[in-house]
Amino acid sequence: MKTIHLIAAARPNFMKIAPLYHALNRTDWADPVIVHTGQHYDINMSDAFFTDFRLPDPHIHLGVGSGTHAQQTGRVMIAYEEVLMKTPPDLVVVVGDVNSTVAATLAAVKLGIPTAHLEAGLRSFDRTMPEEINRLATDALADLLWTPSPDGDENLKREGVPPEKIERVGNIMIDSLEMLRGRIEAERIYRQHGLGAGGYGLITLHRPSNVDDPEVLGRICGIISNITEKLPCVFPVHPRTRKNLETFGLMAGLEALAGLRLLSPLSYIPFMNLVFHSRLLITDSGGVQEESTYLGIPCLTLRPNTERPVTVTEGSNRLCTPADLEAHVNTILDQGWPKGRIPSLWDGKTADRVVASIRRYLDR
Ligand code: UD1
Repeated sequence: MKTIHLIAAARPNFMKIAPLYHALNRTDWADPVIVHTGQHYDINMSDAFFTDFRLPDPHIHLGVGSGTHAQQTGRVMIAYEEVLMKTPPDLVVVVGDVNSTVAATLAAVKLGIPTAHLEAGLRSFDRTMPEEINRLATDALADLLWTPSPDGDENLKREGVPPEKIERVGNIMIDSLEMLRGRIEAERIYRQHGLGAGGYGLITLHRPSNVDDPEVLGRICGIISNITEKLPCVFPVHPRTRKNLETFGLMAGLEALAGLRLLSPLSYIPFMNLVFHSRLLITDSGGVQEESTYLGIPCLTLRPNTERPVTVTEGSNRLCTPADLEAHVNTILDQGWPKGRIPSLWDGKTADRVVASIRRYLDR
């Protein structure tokens, strides 16, 4: 049997490892081991995802918790190195671009343990984003780079990565969605909040660039207030955002808005049920840009750039600023919006391609 560590740390990681865990489990040669670094630890940020995706409790838990970037990265490296020295796996799989992704890669590569990166090659070309630093470092070090779209291949080649390390496998997030589609469709959370199908906007915000500066966040809250006068909105609030809304004295203003439902972070199935029935999405999340493209739902991304450009060139996503957000919402409501098309290999079969790639790699 080949032991394969799947590193999961933060909310967007849990759904990416799930289809891969199940696909590896179906083989007779792979023993997938879930390593939870503990970067996200709240029930709705972590445990509920394990239940939704029928994942077992993590086999290994590093329990690192929150901290500064260096603290979080350093603690994962120290804790994971100990695990690797005691019981080295045949392959380490890291996903996404969070601090734990680069930390686990550094620990494994230095011990000579083969490491693969799922969702490789994405670039925003914005080095003020912590995730961009994590992506650059992870891709420079990993042995096997699985990309979701052709721009990923091109970015890696431009950075001098040998082409034989790169393999386009498609978008694992679509596997996650298709895996749970039946239960997402059966859920009725939007009704519980008094919302009608296709009759509300869904907001998610957590990027430091949008939520860490009181002026920027205050401005965004003002625009949300205007938008809710035209379209009721629902806003599951990320812990980072909630903390800042409270510290900056902005929470009470949002709570007073008749057209806004403020919720705690949601687990995957209820959140995706809200996505499925939304009129439009306002977000700074990476995953939501992809899910909206797959579903053809108008998506307004409050960022100056995206590491997922196919969601704009092919899909229903558009970048916007606080200054033009409201005008874009008006366009969607009054004139409609291009539905876009689904990028190639975003087909729910990415986990199978990754499993085949692992088999070929380990047979070499
Ligand atoms: C992290 C990732 C980001 C990803 C996001 C998804 C990095 C650099 N960032 O950002 O790429 O899009 O996760 O959610 O890795 N907190 C809780 N409960 C938790 C987790 C965090 O209260 O379960 C609090 C922490 O105390 C901290 C804040 O939320 O103050 C931010 O957490 P952190 O893990 O540092 O980064 P995220 O903003 O969640």
